[in-house]
Amino acid sequence: MEHFKEELNNKVDNINKIIKSYLPEAEGYHKRIADAMNYSVNVGGKRIRPLLMLETYKLCGGKNFEDVYPFMAAIEIIHSYSLVHDDLPAMDNDEYRRGQLTTHKKYGEDFGILAGDGLLNLAYETMIEAITKCEDSVDFSKKSKAAGIIAKKSGIYGMVGGQSLDVYLTDKSMDGKQLDYIFRLKTGALIEASFMAGAVLAGCDEGVLDKLENAGNLVGFAFQIKDDILDITSTQEVLGKPVLSDERNNKTTYVSLYGMDKATEDVDTFSERAIDILKELGDNDFLIELVKSLISRNK
Ligand code: IPE
Ligand code: IPE
Ligand code: MG
Ligand code: MG
Ligand code: MG
Repeated sequence: MEHFKEELNNKVDNINKIIKSYLPEAEGYHKRIADAMNYSVNVGGKRIRPLLMLETYKLCGGKNFEDVYPFMAAIEIIHSYSLVHDDLPAMDNDEYRRGQLTTHKKYGEDFGILAGDGLLNLAYETMIEAITKCEDSVDFSKKSKAAGIIAKKSGIYGMVGGQSLDVYLTDKSMDGKQLDYIFRLKTGALIEASFMAGAVLAGCDEGVLDKLENAGNLVGFAFQIKDDILDITSTQEVLGKPVLSDERNNKTTYVSLYGMDKATEDVDTFSERAIDILKELGDNDFLIELVKSLISRNK
């Protein structure tokens, strides 16, 4: 696709503006916590989840882009909180993220924990505010359904559930079924939620929603395999976070379980399967290109 990079940069700039508009003012006695929250979100990141949400909304025929903004902000804010907590000493104990010091390194462990809490809550404040502003019952039902999906995919049946088994099995042996569960939840769930919320807000039916959940699952799975690969093959300068973090933490990864060749192959296979589903559902070349770009990403 011609001009993909340029288009991507423009879209990411726009998403950064949208997210910023929902972040707290840093003033008064809550200045420090607001600073820590804003730092965690604003230091960068690929913004894959809000991108996928908006592009899926378009794929499903949605026209009122502003309707998606609070949900795009919410999913990125939840993702950012998950990273802040993932980096804490009690979890992966990493000092760099998105090319900067991790939140707990910059603001202290206490503020790392609280910034994560504040961000998670902010995501719900943002979605609930959008829901309370609904003008009719159709709008209300779409937005509350999207919020419900994002909530569920973030909790113990989603991201938190995956992170929980991930940390529980650190230093212990792990089989393929357990790794599968971890990947589908810790990373897959928020990516599924991105596809699904975009579709629901555009008013898609249940059949389409199921297919997009499946596509999200495949993209998420491929995304985490690639993350495990990059942890070995990349450098901190490019990746923005420490490499060999998994080995240092004695974690089983897709690469340690299946080898680099199969890992590389499977990123491709799962992504292609997702692309087939997306192509079947409609026309959005940018979305297809975006999913393809995740296969060859270097950060
Ligand atoms: C990193 O997510 C954590 C995983 C779920 C693999 P991203 O690779 O999307 O991180 P950012 O948002 O671009 O920093
Ligand atoms: C992803 O797993 C975790 C989250 C859901 C936050 P990792 O622990 O591998 O993510 P990175 O490599 O630190 O970004
Ligand atoms: Mg982790
Ligand atoms: Mg980590
Ligand atoms: Mg990783």
